[in-house]
Amino acid sequence: MTNMAKEYIAKTRKSKALHKRAKKVLPAGVSYAIRFFEPYPFYTVKARGSRLYDVDGNVYVDYWLGHTALILGHSPPEIVRVVREQLEKGTHYGTSHELEIQLAEQVAKMVSSAEMTRFTNSGTEANMYATRLARAFTGRNRIAKFEGGWHGGYDALHIGVKPPFNILESAGLTDGTVQDTILLPFNDLEGVVRKLTGEHVASVVIEPVLGAGGGVPVERQFLKGLREYCTAKDILLIFDEVITGFRLAPGGAQQYYNVTPDVTVLGKVLGGGFPVGAFCASKEIMSRVDHIVHKRPKYSFHGGTFAANPITMAAGLATLKLLEIGTLITRLNEMGESVREQLRATFIENQCDVQVTGEGSLFNLHFTKQPVRNARDAWAADRGRLIDYGLNLIANGVFILPGHNAALCARHSKVDIEKLISATRDYARTMPDR
Ligand SMILES: Cc1ncc(COP(=O)(O)O)c(C=O)c1O
Repeated sequence: MTNMAKEYIAKTRKSKALHKRAKKVLPAGVSYAIRFFEPYPFYTVKARGSRLYDVDGNVYVDYWLGHTALILGHSPPEIVRVVREQLEKGTHYGTSHELEIQLAEQVAKMVSSAEMTRFTNSGTEANMYATRLARAFTGRNRIAKFEGGWHGGYDALHIGVKPPFNILESAGLTDGTVQDTILLPFNDLEGVVRKLTGEHVASVVIEPVLGAGGGVPVERQFLKGLREYCTAKDILLIFDEVITGFRLAPGGAQQYYNVTPDVTVLGKVLGGGFPVGAFCASKEIMSRVDHIVHKRPKYSFHGGTFAANPITMAAGLATLKLLEIGTLITRLNEMGESVREQLRATFIENQCDVQVTGEGSLFNLHFTKQPVRNARDAWAADRGRLIDYGLNLIANGVFILPGHNAALCARHSKVDIEKLISATRDYARTMPDR
């Protein structure tokens, strides 16, 4: 066991006991595999602004931010206020209400491809319905996604997330559910064309910045070329903006890169801290979800008990209104640029081979000499080192979920950033075999 793991264990006795208890009732003691890290995760009791507080009294500057969802930080007062008001009016209606219209109008105002929207409870669900819609609209079965792309646990998109890409990501996926999904190379237009020649695919789904695939941004020329190719072949281009939506720009990656998809999938920031997802497109495409216009077999189903939950709608609307003018996002993007530069400089000063990826207010690290242009490059880096770095940060009061993307929020201060950089410097100085 490393000294840092010993230090972590010494500081997290109550978390250790909670994890032991959790393992009896929750597989691996967690509710999502990625939330587990060795030796065990800490247990949060409170979160405010940029900070997480654990059950042992430790405080962490949080760069994980609820899977990057919390662009305003934890429990921002403006959101807490509208949620409190909504709580008094009802937690869940199961009927139509004005807030769902207001949020869909707000999304349409901000996101250029989003003339019409349907809300879901997660990004996974939204990707599932977007895929179904693309199939319904084009009349084609096959779909394509990129190596390293993560779109949630929906069967047809749950392949090719981490190498080796030819092994199924989960047991229980049948041949039938994955045989129509084609895997494409990221940032490689020639490779995409090669893979898609002779195929008739309904959609190509892309994360404009690979999230789980290593925080790798799309190259502008590649994205432009992909748009042109999809248009020429009548393929629906889907942007999975679950991470980039309302983060890279008020209008998401499509505004940031100036490339408009046919369908947009949203989540995370859209919910203002509450569970959410959404898929959006033009009226023409979304009309397939309209059961009044289209009957079976042309109609593409979407629905759900908690779809457009009023608490989520209220929190999401208040969040988007704060992001709409763009000043906050611009500030966070500048901060992101500076954090990436400072991290690079810190590792260079200490002769460590590290690639810092990310875009806007997102950042990620890879312990490798080689440039990182896709998920293959990201996964070829020293992952053990990355996880070791993450645990070191945690033991020093800085939380990046080991091995995952990090993000900035409105509540990160200069002191918070300095804490990240100084903990990184300490790590780089003592990094063995660099
Ligand atoms: C790009 C992307 N798409 C889809 C999803 C799935 O969203 P959810 O976890 O809300 O189901 C995620 C989640 O991390 C994501 O990052």
